[in-house]
Amino acid sequence: MEVKNKIGFLNSGIGQKVTMALTGLFLCIFLIVHLTGNFQLFHHDSGLAFNEYAVFMTTFPPIKFVSYGLYAMILYHAFKGLHLAYKNTKARPVKYQVEKASANSPWTSRYMGVLGTIILVFICTHMSNFWWEYHNGPIPLTKYETSLVNGTMTASTYVGEIAGKKLEYNNADNTLHTVIIKDLYVVVAEAFHNIGLVILYVLAMAALGFHLVHGFQSSFQTVGFNHVRYTKVIQAIGIYVFGIAIPIAFAAMPIYFYLLSIHLI
Ligand code: HEM
Repeated sequence: MEVKNKIGFLNSGIGQKVTMALTGLFLCIFLIVHLTGNFQLFHHDSGLAFNEYAVFMTTFPPIKFVSYGLYAMILYHAFKGLHLAYKNTKARPVKYQVEKASANSPWTSRYMGVLGTIILVFICTHMSNFWWEYHNGPIPLTKYETSLVNGTMTASTYVGEIAGKKLEYNNADNTLHTVIIKDLYVVVAEAFHNIGLVILYVLAMAALGFHLVHGFQSSFQTVGFNHVRYTKVIQAIGIYVFGIAIPIAFAAMPIYFYLLSIHLI
């Protein structure tokens, strides 16, 4: 009976909105983790830190487990969101005589379905570019050799094969540390030599920003967390952190690699 009630709630209109809000907030946490990890792309170490991070994220069992939850939540949030947006438009088959929608709600809230669809297309393109390539594609191997005497590091292409994504060892007299690793960094860097892809990423980040300006604060309202003392703080985080800072930081990555490729930085 108890379980039946819970399932009934999840399927109800408000239950679906709460699940949208909770999955959306989980995806916001993912964005912070993903952005923090991707900052390793800016290390000037020929990609070693980023490649180590990619191995950790794709082999450490608890994170692999959370990843499956992430894929499920992306799918749920995207398709349930589209379903709710479709239901909303169907609920008003006859347009109001005087269309005053803009007076009642900001445009971001009215175009959540469109913005979400742009983000879904972005995530599909993005995962086929990097995630799919990393797991299934022919990723080059790079050999990083670090002197344990003076800390200098050299990187070179490794021709050969290793078991798994990474091989690490010290030489016999403990003066040289060697890491041979799948080089996802070079795949990312080279992908963003393509100006078309860079533009696609920047536009998608703009859509992400607008989606989150409305989505972040609206999720808190949906779950009933709208205490007068915190509403302004939540709105500010939604606008400045999720709507502006995070999308700009993500967009900086393709732009950075493109500028590197044309020797402007
Ligand atoms: C624009 C800068 C970005 C770069 C350079 C970037 C880079 C990457 C790379 C290299 C991977 C594959 C490595 C891995 O599987 O861990 C990846 C995975 C992924 N990215 Fe991004 N990403 C960016 C932005 C985004 C954004 C804005 C989103 C979401 C809206 C996103 C969603 C994902 C997802 C869902 C995965 C799969 C994660 C997993 O398997 O656990 N990425 N990204």
